[in-house]
Amino acid sequence: MAQQSKNILSEIQGVESEFEKEVAAIDSVTKLETVRIVFLSKKGKLQSLFSHLGALDPQERPLVGAELNRLKNRIQEDLLEKKSALGSAKSPVDSFDPTLPGKTPSFGTIHPLMQVLGEIENIFMGMGFRVEEGPEIETEFYNFEALNIPEDHPSRDMQDTFYLPDNYLLRTHTSPVQIRTMQKQRPPVRMIAPGRCFRRDTPDATHSPTFHQVEGLCVDKGVSFADLKGVIMAFARKLFDAEVKVRFRPGFFPFTEPSAEYDFSCIFCSGQGCRVCKNTGWLEISGAGMVDPAVFGFVDYDPAIYTGYAFGMGVERIAMLKYQVHDIRIFYENDLRFLRQF
Ligand code: PHE
Repeated sequence: MAQQSKNILSEIQGVESEFEKEVAAIDSVTKLETVRIVFLSKKGKLQSLFSHLGALDPQERPLVGAELNRLKNRIQEDLLEKKSALGSAKSPVDSFDPTLPGKTPSFGTIHPLMQVLGEIENIFMGMGFRVEEGPEIETEFYNFEALNIPEDHPSRDMQDTFYLPDNYLLRTHTSPVQIRTMQKQRPPVRMIAPGRCFRRDTPDATHSPTFHQVEGLCVDKGVSFADLKGVIMAFARKLFDAEVKVRFRPGFFPFTEPSAEYDFSCIFCSGQGCRVCKNTGWLEISGAGMVDPAVFGFVDYDPAIYTGYAFGMGVERIAMLKYQVHDIRIFYENDLRFLRQF
């Protein structure tokens, strides 16, 4: 075989192994196209080999030509194969479809207790009450003493709590905010104080060591029990409905005199008697009363000039009634099956 033919055959071999390397490195449609141009285009490597055929010994042409054709077919086939492989394993960028709807992020909802708290706040703000806040860690002075509950008074036992060093404690009610507010401003005062409270209670369906209250306080010249009744009644009607009745029963709190417990007529049976109201027709809400003059003594208000009323309410209690929840503990469990319903 002539030297020229041998040269071309070894060139063919060289191009083939070059192609093998290149095709293995192809990882995108763009690279595939580049490789196709380098080897198969009119000015490509194969074409340049074909153009040497004419200069060969006529007897050796068929052999070299067949070898060239084999390589050409192989390159075409390999590139086709590569192309379909690339098509089935599309890169993330190739498969990104900007017209598809996006994933909607989940925003969550406001906790049912906080929703009820917000409603209570709105109703009282609409009646001219300001929203005050106080610390959850209180001193014995604000939580008990200034509320006319002396050290050995038995009503401290009913509000046993968690004590911290240096006479600090977790507040058992929101009533200390009455004292803090009166210390910081002169009458007239008209405020509510929502917040978290704590008691040393064993959890059950109606008790939780952590719960929420809303306190109310109004102090001015000539404030009477009738004003208290009017405000509570207006609140009940706004919160539930216009038919709700309010009842005051005698009660006792060291910081109010006279004191009362107040009930709403049952919103489920309209007072007829049902399971929720235990057939009494009434739902107990909380306590209220006229501010005890002894309390004014602690904040330097003159009881000869000013009178006031105060009331409390349990947020959980109201939320349980509103949403017919029968176990208080479910509010704190963060169970999404429950929370997603609000
Ligand atoms: N602080 C009382 C309690 O926790 C409720 C109350 C508030 C009573 C204001 C009278 C006036 O039970």
